[in-house]
Formats: sequence, C-alpha cells, structure tokens
Amino acid sequence: MGKLVIVSNRVASAAEGKSTAGGLAVGVLDALKRQDGLWFGWNGKIEDPAQAGLSSYRIGRIDCATTSLSRGEYDTYYRGFANGTLWPAFHYRVDLSRYDPKEYAGYLAVNERLAGMLTELVDEDDRLWVHDYHLIPFARACRRMGMRNRIGFFLHTPFPAEGVLRTIPPHRDLVEALCEYDLVGFQTRGDAQAFIDYASRRLGLPLETGGMLRTRSGLVRVGHYPIGILPDDIQNKSKARSRSKLVATLKQGLQERKLIVSVDRLDYSKGLVERFNAFERLLESYPAHCGQVSFLQIAPPSRSDVEGYRHIRRQLESTAGHINGRWTELSWTPIRYMNRAYERSALLSFFRASQVGFVTPLRDGMNLVAKEYVAAQAPDDPGVLVLSEFAGAADELANGAIIVNPYDIEAMARALDQALNMPLEERLERHGHMMQLLKDNSIRQWRDHFLADLEPEAIAA
Ligand code: ADP
Ligand code: F6P
Repeated sequence: MGKLVIVSNRVASAAEGKSTAGGLAVGVLDALKRQDGLWFGWNGKIEDPAQAGLSSYRIGRIDCATTSLSRGEYDTYYRGFANGTLWPAFHYRVDLSRYDPKEYAGYLAVNERLAGMLTELVDEDDRLWVHDYHLIPFARACRRMGMRNRIGFFLHTPFPAEGVLRTIPPHRDLVEALCEYDLVGFQTRGDAQAFIDYASRRLGLPLETGGMLRTRSGLVRVGHYPIGILPDDIQNKSKARSRSKLVATLKQGLQERKLIVSVDRLDYSKGLVERFNAFERLLESYPAHCGQVSFLQIAPPSRSDVEGYRHIRRQLESTAGHINGRWTELSWTPIRYMNRAYERSALLSFFRASQVGFVTPLRDGMNLVAKEYVAAQAPDDPGVLVLSEFAGAADELANGAIIVNPYDIEAMARALDQALNMPLEERLERHGHMMQLLKDNSIRQWRDHFLADLEPEAIAA
C-alpha cells in the first residue's frame, strides 16, 4: 500500500514540541507519531506568489511539505471565507458570519492551487486524508485533475443543522463538494446526522445501509470519529513537569488558594465572557470562596485580523478589568488573564496543579483541552472538569464531568461551587470513568478507525 498523505491548512511547526495552539495540529501530530507519511499545507507565511514554492522539513518520520499564500489568497481564502464565513456559521454565530462571493471564489481557487501542487507529490496508491473547513472542495479539485486515489475528509469543527447551514449562500455547493470524498468524518453523531439530513433532504441522495450516501458517481461513507488524545503520554508529561520552577512559582502566587484553570485560543466560540461572568457570580453567590480561589485563564490571540476576534479581545479585557477592579484585595487577584501560548507540557502541569478545569465553549467540535485536563490529573487527587454541554467532548465525558449550559451563568457558578467542594471519593470515581474512556478511545483509535473506513473494502462490507 502507498503512503498516507495528510492535507490541512495548518501544519505542525518544524520545531517539535513548540507550542501550537489549535486542536488540528496537536491532534494530527499525535496521530501520526511513529508512522510514515507526508503532511501538506500552508506554512503560515504570506509571500509574493513568485516565491510560493514548496519547502520541506521532517518531524520524526513525517515529511512536511508546505507553501505560502499570497496576500490576496490569505484575505479571501483564510481570513475571508474560511474564518469570516464558515467558522462563525459552523459555530452557530450567524450574527458574525458574512458572505462575499469574491472571497468564495478565492477559497475555491486556493483549493485548486493546493490540489495542483499536491498532484506532483502523490503516487497512485497513496491514501489522502484532508482536514477541516478550509479544504472542503479539495477532493473535487483533485478529481478534476485526474486523481483517483481514496480521499477522506475529517471536519474538526461542528457541522451545523440545516437551518444554520443555509445561511451560508453556497451551502449546496459545499455539501456537493463534500460528496466527492470517499469518506466524510465528523466529531459527533449529531454532526454526522446533520450532514446526512441535508444531503438526503436537500440533495435527494438516498441513504443506504452502513451510513452510505449514494451519489451520481458512487458511494460516500459518512461516520463519526471523536478525536482523542494520548492519555498516558499526557499523564507522564504533566507528572514530569509538576515539580518544575514554573509550577512552584504558580503555587507560590496562589498561597494555598484553590485554582480554577481554563486554556483556549482567544475565540468567540469558547464562551470566555460568560465564563468570566460565571466566576464573578461564584464570588457573589458563594462568598466563602472570596479570597480562597483564583481563576487562571490562558488565551493566546488567534486570527487577530478578523473583526470578531478583535471585538472579543476588547470585551474580555474590559470584563476581566471590571471584575478584578471590583474584587481584588492587596493579597488576592481573582482573575489572572494571560494572552500567551505556553509549551504543552507547561500547560499540562498547570492543569495538574489546579482543582477545577473550566471548559465552557458555546460550541466546539470536540475541545481537546477538556480531554487533556482529565489526563493530566494526579490519579490519587484529581481535579474536577466543568464542561459545556455544547462541546463535542461532552458526548463522551458526561459520566465524569459536571456538565453545564454555558449560557446559564447561575448554573455555571453553582457547578464551580460543587466542583470546589467535591469530596475526594467522588472526584476519584468521576476521574476513573473519564480516564478509562480516554484510554479506550485514544487518538490512535481515531486514526485507525478513520483509515480503516477509508479502505475500499470498508465500503463493500
Ligand atoms: P481549538 O482546536 O478550537 O483550538 P481544542 O481545545 O480542540 O480547540 O485544541 C486546542 C489545542 O491547543 C489543545 O491541544 C491545547 O493544549 C492547545 N492550546 C490551547 N491554548 C494553548 C496555549 N495557550 N498554549 C499552548 N497550547 C495551547
Ligand atoms: O479546528 C480547530 C482549528 O480551526 C484548526 O483548523 C486550526 O488549525 C486551529 O483551530 C487554529 O486556528 P488557525 O489555524 O486559524 O490558527
């Protein structure tokens, strides 16, 4: 069999271990460890098109081949249609989603250009695994260039219900483009069902047994493949860093206080303002926690040249400033809000040093941080996960996390109080459930399950 070719907009950095805030790069890198393959995508640079050749580097056994985007491509494809139209709509923020047909044309053109570059690197028997919303039309572009390889697609974000999807004017074209893949995978059963509903109702594609849609050119398999992590690796890393100077400094600053921790890209889908408000409500409604608990929010800026992101940043600064202004004492700052990325092992050690992981996106495909938080805990004294019901991870972790509605500030404050007061026995039981689940569905299972379903025999079965 040929090699595995991964295609994604963002490719892990050449400096292995360098922090990459974003589930795709982290997840795919973990999935590919100890496996040969080629990873193709954007190098993160904006350059003159004349310089947009391929640059190559290796991460372990993976060959990475990346190229730059021109200013126009970046503006239409990445900043425009992918992050100004698709991302907000896929996260149910239709109020932030705007549409410009020129941006859609640019999005399609970049997919064509990248597919053209990739044809040079692909052999007949290679398998292609394409990732995320930037590259929905990629298989169609490959097919037009004559590529007959098996091509699978995995969406890391939610896939919205029909009523929301239809707010994106070229919705039909996007779903038709997805039907050019051999396999289309989603994070949750609900996402896969939303896609099937649209394809069968709007496009009239018959659904056959085994989650297969019959199209004019053949069969497309549809499934859900919840992305996982490497729980043992995370456990080892968090333990190894737990005696570091960084953790000692963190603990010294806390002065025996409890710690609630959150880590996200600075994105409006992550529910950060609601979360800050819920922390303040905790202090108001449960005053015993005043001066006894600190909330650490780490949120490195992301996509800062898209207006929605600039707005959320300003809003958060003012919310954090307002809350701290009201509650801070000489010896206690309630919210520590930091806009920086940390090395992954440092983040994991912060998770281990905390009593509560507060993960409350308004919508999220999966949310790897929720899973990482659980895996990083000390097994004999684990912290508690407070998790939004609208994160894909809630489908799997509902047995052990305290599940909250991120729009319900009072309920989130109540959940924080419950988490901060939870007896050891209950924490152990909840953590045990979740850890078992993470081990049973690690990122290796995600990769193996998806790739097995991409094989032609899987269609025939
Ligand atoms: P998304 O893909 O929307 O960014 P996820 O929670 O699924 O959200 O994935 C985020 C990934 O990025 C996680 O693996 C997390 O550890 C990492 N990450 C998030 N914030 C930071 C940060 N401040 N520094 C370094 N890594 C981060
Ligand atoms: O699915 C999450 C995701 O959108 C990835 O596609 C992306 O790599 C990551 O978040 C970070 O965003 P960006 O690549 O736009 O910096």
